[in-house]
Amino acid sequence: MHSGEEMKTSSGERSLKAHLSERREVVDGALERFLPDASAPPRRLHEAMRYSVFSGGKRLRPILALTTFELAGGEGDAVLAPACATEFIHTYSLIHDDLPAMDDDDLRRGRPTCHKAFDEATAILAGDALLTLAFEVVAREGRLTPERRLSVVAELAAANGLAGMVGGQVADMEGEGTPAILEAVEFIHLRKTALPLRAAVLAGALAAGASPDDVTALGTFGEKIGLAFQIADDLLDVTGTEEEMGKAVGKDEGRGKLTYPAAAGVSGAAARARELTDEALAALDVFGDRAWALREIASFVVERRN
Ligand code: IPE
Ligand code: IPE
Ligand code: MG
Ligand code: MG
Ligand code: MG
Repeated sequence: MHSGEEMKTSSGERSLKAHLSERREVVDGALERFLPDASAPPRRLHEAMRYSVFSGGKRLRPILALTTFELAGGEGDAVLAPACATEFIHTYSLIHDDLPAMDDDDLRRGRPTCHKAFDEATAILAGDALLTLAFEVVAREGRLTPERRLSVVAELAAANGLAGMVGGQVADMEGEGTPAILEAVEFIHLRKTALPLRAAVLAGALAAGASPDDVTALGTFGEKIGLAFQIADDLLDVTGTEEEMGKAVGKDEGRGKLTYPAAAGVSGAAARARELTDEALAALDVFGDRAWALREIASFVVERRN
């Protein structure tokens, strides 16, 4: 695993680019190894899983896991299972989020959504298979102690289940067409996006056996950038283009979604995203210079165009 430090240059942007692209490559190689062969039966299911995983996602969550693993002093490749687990869960959540019964989207990561490229039943089952594969790869990672594996599994399960992503998606659906009250938006954003993103940050730290204080600091960082990330996603639905985003834009207002711009306006939402980023950065103070990559990622989250 790269230490990351040597890539630090005077240009934060350039060093972040290298940090992201080097780790993206490592993550893609590991995802490839963990996924079932496309030619093995049930072929259609495996093809659908691979179609959605290898479709040009940013890999933000596994890169965060790798980055916090390194920050917490972890060495070697044992973090790749927890890191890939975060991307499998994320991809499953997107496949289901796009289904006709949910956001009913036709375009994802620049390509037809899973249920459009295959069919609804296959998309549902590909999502199910990715979710369960996530827990299998972590549970089987023999280079991590059983305690560390268990702590990663518990964190990922809690953050993505009824009190996390699934609960947030339920509130997102139920909230459609209701008044965009800030408290309701924050309830949804915390659960559907921030807690899963925080779990990705923590997965790397827990895999490295980080101290309780470091886990607390990184948890705060993860939650804040997770909230900022969803606000940025809401803003990009208003200000971005389909070409940049690889998914339809302007759809949240049409569906009456409870978004931050709906509740606070575009400039209010942007201000809140910046405030959250500052709070995320403050949580990293205890790490000093060693957290440079996380700082760069925090800025990237609010400045991104896709
Ligand atoms: C999109 O996540 C869904 C949200 C939680 C807002 P990303 O913007 O990370 O999607 P990919 O993985 O890069 O496609
Ligand atoms: C999705 O939020 C968050 C998930 C848990 C998948 P959105 O519905 O806003 O994500 P996009 O805009 O479709 O990527
Ligand atoms: Mg949605
Ligand atoms: Mg959606
Ligand atoms: Mg969105």
